[in-house]
Amino acid sequence: MVINRAAILKAAGERLVVEDTSYVKPGAGQVLIKVQAAAINVADHILQDTGLFIRNWPYTLGSDVAGTIEEAGPGSSFQPGDRVYAHCNQKFSQGGFDESCAGFGGFQFYTLSLEDHTAKLPNAIGFEQGCVFPLSVTTAYAGLMTLGLNQPGSGYVFVWGGSSSVGTNAIQLFKNLGYTVITTASPRNFGYCREIGASEVFDYNGDDQPIIGFLKGKNLLGTLDAMSKEDTLKRCMKLVDGTVCSVAPGTEKIGPQVKTIYQAQDPHFNIQQKVYGEVLPKALGNGTFKPKPDPLVIGNGLEYAQEGIDMCKKGVSARKVVFIL
Ligand SMILES: NC(=O)c1ccc[n+]([C@@H]2O[C@H](COP(=O)([O-])OP(=O)(O)OC[C@H]3O[C@@H](n4cnc5c(N)ncnc54)[C@H](OP(=O)(O)O)[C@@H]3O)[C@@H](O)[C@H]2O)c1
Repeated sequence: MVINRAAILKAAGERLVVEDTSYVKPGAGQVLIKVQAAAINVADHILQDTGLFIRNWPYTLGSDVAGTIEEAGPGSSFQPGDRVYAHCNQKFSQGGFDESCAGFGGFQFYTLSLEDHTAKLPNAIGFEQGCVFPLSVTTAYAGLMTLGLNQPGSGYVFVWGGSSSVGTNAIQLFKNLGYTVITTASPRNFGYCREIGASEVFDYNGDDQPIIGFLKGKNLLGTLDAMSKEDTLKRCMKLVDGTVCSVAPGTEKIGPQVKTIYQAQDPHFNIQQKVYGEVLPKALGNGTFKPKPDPLVIGNGLEYAQEGIDMCKKGVSARKVVFIL
């Protein structure tokens, strides 16, 4: 009998505990992934601290994994042994995680994933690289859709916070569609932002005059604030005339220019098919999309899930905290 173990959250505000858990066989449209590497997201500490969106306790956190298919549901296009990456959240419906979806969550040996949230990982990409981008790229793509800029085009776009995980993926997606990206980061990450496709990088720790000077007379097509804190949204609103896309639910109230996406909610939920079925397979395959930010691998074992959440909460710089199994 296969033993599954998970880093389990028993109640909001508690520390994760590593325990045996159920091994859930995949149904139609699902796969079961043997997790080899899992990444930590900002959402993990928010959900741990607040219990936001969680309807079923105990709960297994973790959205981003890479591993191998252990079992595929009936009629699946995946085979046992396939190398994959996945955004392995439970399905989101009516303001919370779907109650029928026990078995999901990246911080366990075996996680369910929806088949259309899962894609094959090219052999040249290691598991610890393969887990760094799923949630962030889905979020970034929802941002492009919100701005109406998910089709090929040309002209300037602005990504605030280019060295963050969401910002990194937004820059790569925009660049691949033909746009010219300007961004903000700390000077230590200017080279990184250029490497992933930004043409101009400004220091957000300084004042906004250099950005104002650069934007003068330019037709800016859209702005995505990958940080979406109150101060960053207010700065973006002062700098640009049009919509500022926010990735933080609830921030619409900051100003009429702010349009918020939440990638797991309708109407964006169906973007998974586009991202995992079309965009990523093509761009990862031809090397125009890189698994970024680079993984910071902190250890081997489920105990590192809590340590990773703690690290992520303190803040990272152009890195994705990852543990391996
Ligand atoms: N809506 C959704 O579904 C969804 C999904 C995923 C994430 N999010 C949200 O997206 C946000 C970003 O998440 P993430 O995982 O991408 O973050 P992250 O990678 O952990 O962010 C770290 C980066 O933030 C940069 N940074 C910090 N303060 C900044 C500022 N004032 N201006 C510009 N850059 C700044 C740092 O840049 P330097 O080191 O260069 O200083 C650092 O590289 C979070 O609020 C998260 O909750 C939303």
